[in-house]
Amino acid sequence: MTDQAFLVVGADSLVGGGLVAALHRRGHTTYASTRRRDTLNNKRVYLDFESDEPFRAPEGVNYAFLVAAATNYDRCEKDPLARVINVELIPRVVASLLQQGLFVTFISTNSVFGGDRPWPHEDDLHAPGIAYARQKSEGEDAVRAHAERLGAKDRLNIVRLTKIMGPETSPLPAWFAAWKRGEPVEPFTDLVFAPISVQFVGEALATIGEKRIPGNLHLSAAANVNYVEFASALARRLGVDPTLIRPSTAVDKGVNIPFKPRFSGLGMARTTSLGGIQPQRLEQLIDDLIAAQGD
Ligand SMILES: NC(=O)c1ccc[n+]([C@@H]2O[C@H](COP(=O)([O-])OP(=O)(O)OC[C@H]3O[C@@H](n4cnc5c(N)ncnc54)[C@H](OP(=O)(O)O)[C@@H]3O)[C@@H](O)[C@H]2O)c1
Repeated sequence: MTDQAFLVVGADSLVGGGLVAALHRRGHTTYASTRRRDTLNNKRVYLDFESDEPFRAPEGVNYAFLVAAATNYDRCEKDPLARVINVELIPRVVASLLQQGLFVTFISTNSVFGGDRPWPHEDDLHAPGIAYARQKSEGEDAVRAHAERLGAKDRLNIVRLTKIMGPETSPLPAWFAAWKRGEPVEPFTDLVFAPISVQFVGEALATIGEKRIPGNLHLSAAANVNYVEFASALARRLGVDPTLIRPSTAVDKGVNIPFKPRFSGLGMARTTSLGGIQPQRLEQLIDDLIAAQGD
């Protein structure tokens, strides 16, 4: 479809950046929302969830991706405003965009499933543990309720993501720097994730937007890996000496990790069948990280 114009709410986020790049690459008219007033222009519009100003989507936009959120785990635990943003203010913006006739994607997270079940299906029940996950789960319920009330369920999807990695995502800058100095890194064996690249998530969301698929969707890696397996794959690809990886554990290092799932990967059966999108393999993530590092 060439007559679609997209709005990315939260374009300065990690996910938003990848999505804007993918939409541009595909030649779509793309607007971005930001809170950074000094960066506004004819394609970057102002939106702060905490402001009372009603938000109108730019003329001609018929699809919005609601990417922005209060994402910091610690803030979600301690700052009552984070819950208000995630559970009330963001769903209110979704409702307004649906009322304006747009199709809306609400971005959510694998953490709503709690991490005790492998490969949850798109329509499985939630079991959130930490405050951030509870807020995203309640946010999902709120946007679904708004869509139901407005008779707009066929113009809403909820896309849950696993962990997104870009070259600047911790701990990568520290690992790259250590390996450059010939020093070892100490990744954790007791921390499991299902990492996907910024490029993969951007392209997959753009495909979902072009196809306007309603309902629940998942974007995930094809395998759960621990940080030693991830570091080893990265080192192999970069030609880094494997002895520069010294396996460790978060427990031994006394590092408190708030979200420590047994299983991080999401089942993508519905997403693959309706969207033709396959889970990302670890080698593809590594290729994307190396390509982005050179950008
Ligand atoms: N990163 C991941 O690994 C991951 C995994 C699963 C799901 N997700 C989901 O993906 C989405 C994006 O995550 P991310 O990690 O890319 O985000 P991020 O880099 O932490 O950025 C968060 C964005 O939200 C914006 N924001 C926060 N409060 C706002 C407010 N009151 N009004 C307007 N904008 C506000 C921020 O604006 P400023 O730039 O102005 O601060 C920023 O652009 C979130 O919904 C998150 O739950 C992320």
